[in-house]
Parts: sequence; structure tokens; C-alpha cells
Amino acid sequence: MSMFEARLGAIPADFYHRADVLDAEIEHVFKPAWVCAGFTEDLKNPNDFLTTRLGKHSIVVQNMKGEIRAFRNVCAHRFSRIQCDAHGNRPLTCPYHGWTYDGEGKPIGIPMNGQSFQFDDADRARLALDQYEVSIVGNFVFVRMVPGGEDLKTFLGAYYEELEHLSAVCTDRVENERFEWRGNWKLSMDNSGEAYHVPLVHSENFQLILNLDLEISTEKEHSRYLGTLKERSIKWWAGVCKSIGVKRSERYQDYVSFLIYPNIIITFSYGAFMTFQTFDPVAPDRFVIKTAAWLAENRSGAARPVVHEALRAFTAHVRDDDEKILAVNQDGVEDVETIRPPMLGVIEGRTKHFQQAYMAHMQGRVE
Ligand code: FES
Ligand SMILES: [Fe+2]
Repeated sequence: MSMFEARLGAIPADFYHRADVLDAEIEHVFKPAWVCAGFTEDLKNPNDFLTTRLGKHSIVVQNMKGEIRAFRNVCAHRFSRIQCDAHGNRPLTCPYHGWTYDGEGKPIGIPMNGQSFQFDDADRARLALDQYEVSIVGNFVFVRMVPGGEDLKTFLGAYYEELEHLSAVCTDRVENERFEWRGNWKLSMDNSGEAYHVPLVHSENFQLILNLDLEISTEKEHSRYLGTLKERSIKWWAGVCKSIGVKRSERYQDYVSFLIYPNIIITFSYGAFMTFQTFDPVAPDRFVIKTAAWLAENRSGAARPVVHEALRAFTAHVRDDDEKILAVNQDGVEDVETIRPPMLGVIEGRTKHFQQAYMAHMQGRVE
């Protein structure tokens, strides 16, 4: 194999803008995978809910009398969406004519049933919402649309325990936001998988704190890189730990990034600060980025809001840089004549691993 061939990625350029590719990847990449819908801390109370969009699908995850359940977010009556917000607290009641569902997805409240429908129990059971599997690790709520295949623990491999650990350490949430960006969701995975872009794209933030000598490893379809923080970052964190008593993890005291197939990126800095992002496709050239961050347990105090604000400002700055470059990248991939995959160097090894995992699910699914 020539060096040219060895450096080819796996995903053809046109896969970043074709509508039929999006349809196929929803079927073959997302539906059979465990995808993270949100966090247990947002589903603590009865009727707390979250929604997640994947292509044309919407999934509602809701606390139903203490049980976390996931359903297709479509009413059985005349097919309205049921929960319309990203998150909130509200019974599982359709906003159109008020059908209300129970923990099994059965419509137990049908306004004017006696006069208008006269449905009995068997009819209601036939009208139950499509229910999806839910599996929880630490603070992370995963959903799978198509049953069968590996359980969550097997799917995540060694990273299952890492997620438990991160959940136990990082308990003080700093932010929880979602935005819609221009770009194919895979461009965001490709981008987050490598730090090659850091010197140019993040010259004013990330570049100042992270060394580029990253050590890559893989775990099934997932991957990790370990890095080291620059002196100024270590100094800043030492000051923070002193002022608010952050309980650092014994593990990963420098910098680590986990890529969890198909669409999660986690970073963990100084054993004290975690960011968690998912990239959910909504159209061939648009995705929703859900982004949350937590600080390790701390004794709080007056300096805590200042630390939170500094961390939020930093992550927002990094995010803005990525949003801009992904839109630019999307313009380019839509203009490519060739369908060859991108070139990926050794430093982009995690991006290549992601692309190969993705293509293993997509091979033969589209022309
Ligand atoms: S469409 Fe949901 S109650 Fe009518
Ligand atoms: Fe970036």
C-alpha cells in the first residue's frame, strides 16, 4: 500500500451532505446503537422529561412515577408530537387533544372516550406508544431504538467503568445547553477526534493549555487520547483547587478525551472538569450539539461562581471556534467533485478509527 492509500480516511466526501445517507445512517448507525439522551439529574422528579432528535425521529425520555422510560415522541391519536420542548416537567400528555399516557405508553386518559371512542383496555393496549430500551450508567441515560445486540456495558467496553467514575467525581454542573449548528454531524466527530486543528482554530484558548503530544488508544468502536496540560493551566487549576477545595480524581490528572461511538465526545481536565457533548443529526447539513460540563465536587463558597463563569467562558470560546470552522468545512464538502475520503494523518488516528467504525455499519447500505 502506498503512503497515499495508507492515509486515506474511510468516509467518502459525499456522505457529508446526501439526504439518502442520513436516512441510512439513522437506520444502521443510530437506531442499533446506544445513544445518550441526557442525564439522570434532569429526570429525578416524576414527569421530568427530555427529548432527543435523530433525523426525523424524536425520542422522549420521561420519569414515569419514578421509572425512566423512553418512547417515540408521537401521539397514537393523530400523530402529533407529545413533548415539544428540549426538557421540562409535564405529564406525558399530547398538546393537541389531550391524550395522556402511562408508564407502559398506553393512553390511559382519553378526553370524551365514553362518547367519542369507547375504547376498552385491549384497544388502549393496541394504541401504546413505541417504547425504547433505556440503560443508565452513572449520570448518563442511554436509549436504543432497535432492541437486540449488546447491552450497554458490553457496548461501552472498558469505558463503562470510566463513565461511572466520571459521574461519581464530577457532580457540580457548570452548564447544560443545546445549539443547532450548520454542518454534518460526522464533521463534528471528525473534528473532535483530533487535536491537529487546535493550533490554528483554537489559537487563543485550547492551544494555550494543551500540549499536542497526545497518546491515542482504541476500545472497540470508541477511542481515547491522553494529553498533558501546559504549565499555565496547571497553575490555574492549582489555584482553583485551593480556593474552593475541588476533590480531584486520582485518575487522569492531566487531560483525557473519550470518543464514544457514534456521537459522544467527553473531555476531562486536571481530574477536575468534564465536558460532555453529543452531536445529533437533524438534517444532512445540520446537527444539534448538546453540551454539558461539570466540576468535581467542591466545598463551594464565594469563589465558585467565578470559577464556573471562567470555565463557561473558556468552553464557549472553544465552541464558537469549532462552530465557525465546521460551517466552513461543510461549505467545502458540499463542493467536492471527488468522492474520495479525506486524508487523515497519524495525528488524526482517532478520526480514522471513528470513520472505519461508522463505515462498517454503513457498508452496502447506500449506493
Ligand atoms: S393528536 Fe394527540 S391527542 Fe390528538
Ligand atoms: Fe475544536
